[in-house]
Amino acid sequence: MPTDVGLVLRGSEKLLRRALGEDVDLSITVAPDLWPVLCDPGQLEQVLLNLALNARDAMPRGGRLTIDAGNVRAAEAAAAHGERPGDWVRLVVRDTGVGMTDEVKAHLFEPFFTTKEPGAGTGLGLASVYGAIAQTGGHIHVESEPGRGTTFELRLPRCERPALTPPPLPAPGTVGGTETILVVEDDPLVRSVTRRTLATAGYQRTTATRLSSAPRNTARRSTSSSPTW
Ligand SMILES: Nc1ncnc2c1ncn2[C@@H]1O[C@H](COP(=O)(O)OP(=O)(O)OP(=O)(O)O)[C@@H](O)[C@H]1O
Ligand SMILES: [Mg+2]
Repeated sequence: MPTDVGLVLRGSEKLLRRALGEDVDLSITVAPDLWPVLCDPGQLEQVLLNLALNARDAMPRGGRLTIDAGNVRAAEAAAAHGERPGDWVRLVVRDTGVGMTDEVKAHLFEPFFTTKEPGAGTGLGLASVYGAIAQTGGHIHVESEPGRGTTFELRLPRCERPALTPPPLPAPGTVGGTETILVVEDDPLVRSVTRRTLATAGYQRTTATRLSSAPRNTARRSTSSSPTW
């Protein structure tokens, strides 16, 4: 749907601050009269969360994350990157973290590529970011050097139709179901967002941080007491 990126950014700010923790400053700037883009607002929030979690991990002793949203006119874009013509909305996400080598950059978006300890990362974060942005017809540029931070630039094609105000959340039960869903996710924040989304859709949910600790028979659990959060 035609989406107002500024609205999504403002709506996600609290979640992003929680994800980043106290030692990382977050600053968000949205240009006035930002054009709408065609994307799912929930998916865009997940993209921002994935980038913020990576930035947090790259700044173990704190730092700064800036997110700037602005318009890029067709002529400018074509001149800068030799891209196909069209107007874009640009999201620049910049951290002051450890940065990365060319070797890491070369594999960044591959599913399961991670430099984190076993159990600390699945390597699916940026693969899902890539998929979500590609779905909008957009693309991503990365600039990074070891010790010099990282900048992700996301380009989303402008949508000519005006942004829709997100509809109010449907009453529980009108979408979704009542089955029990097992959520396996090691990051506490992503786990809590997933649990919230499923709860809104009416599902029972049970969670585990890793597969080996997941309950073997979820179906049987669903008929007994409610799962704990
Ligand atoms: N902002 C960043 N600064 C430095 N390195 C980064 C940054 N973002 C990603 N990386 C590197 O890219 C790798 C892949 O990132 P990706 O988000 O796909 O997986 P992950 O963070 O390792 O695991 P997951 O997101 O599934 O928890 C990371 O392991 C890290 O080496
Ligand atoms: Mg990640």
